Amino acid sequence: MIKTPICDLLGIEYPVFQGGMAWIADASLAAAVSNGGGLGIISAMNANGEWLRGQIREAKKLTDKPFGVNIMLMSPFADEVAKVVVEEGVPVVTTGAGNPAKYMPAWLEAGIKVIPVIPSTGIAKRVARAGAAAVIAEGGESGGHIGELTTMALVPQVCDAVDIPVIAAGGIADGRGFAAAIMLGAVGVQMGTRFLVAHECNVHPNYKKKILEAGDIDTASTGRRLGHPVRSLKTPFTREYMKKEYDPNVSNEELEGLGAGALRKAAVEGDEKAGCFLAGQIASMVTKEQPAAEIITDVCTQAEEILKGACKWVR
Ligand SMILES: Cc1cc2nc3c(=O)[nH]c(=O)nc-3n(C[C@H](O)[C@H](O)[C@H](O)COP(=O)(O)O)c2cc1C
Repeated sequence: MIKTPICDLLGIEYPVFQGGMAWIADASLAAAVSNGGGLGIISAMNANGEWLRGQIREAKKLTDKPFGVNIMLMSPFADEVAKVVVEEGVPVVTTGAGNPAKYMPAWLEAGIKVIPVIPSTGIAKRVARAGAAAVIAEGGESGGHIGELTTMALVPQVCDAVDIPVIAAGGIADGRGFAAAIMLGAVGVQMGTRFLVAHECNVHPNYKKKILEAGDIDTASTGRRLGHPVRSLKTPFTREYMKKEYDPNVSNEELEGLGAGALRKAAVEGDEKAGCFLAGQIASMVTKEQPAAEIITDVCTQAEEILKGACKWVR
């Protein structure tokens, strides 16, 4: 069994987080992951405080284990949901797309463990100084919003830069990736793409099908021109977006408009033409639907075997 300091810090059995995923990571998925011994995370995405409150209460009915909430700092409801996590006694908050400094004092006072998703050592140091309990170092192989560095390059540099625990994310789908993350100095992993096909994940069936059918070079990153690149499956939507992204006659406003609502179209409606199917580069390694708990034990068991045998090359 792999036990690391993050297990004791958060009261979880396995050092495996399910990443916040807008329009997808709801109470059902988060509770299933937490019941499986990992850390389930509800995505607050762009929804308002009352929606989040409902999801938190639903998750509490489904599990008595710790779970977290992911707050997208760019959300127009960020101030509102930042209060809801305090009022509802959520033990862990992860943050994405921005600097959580503004909310940290209130969260820390409430005893919340704040674990920001970070793309660089500079931001890791800044959030560590502000009181983060740990950081999630996410490489650009991941699905969703991405930074510049790969997981392989980012994780060891973040481990050297801060004294708090580091969770690795991006490009991890099985025990090999988990074991590698441990070797790089991480004390846990966060997976998004692999959990998309969990039985308890309520994403549209077309989304699951596309993940299961994806090949190794089937993702692309778009949105660099607007300063917030995302990784998704190559689809008619991404092809159109890319064409316009490199067309100087297309304004930034038009480009923004094209992307708006595209994830919801994919996740909720399964729209294969207009939807944006966020997914990581390891989508092709995701080959079967499983209960979330089984995904966690499969990954951990494989990692354990690899780590036990890791000294075989050492003479
Ligand atoms: C469909 C999808 C939606 C995502 N939405 C968010 C989000 O709302 N907030 C966030 O911090 N990260 C988001 N992410 C990133 C994940 O939380 C996670 O860090 C990432 O998926 C890990 O890389 P992997 O996809 O290679 O497993 C999303 C990822 C995916 C695949």
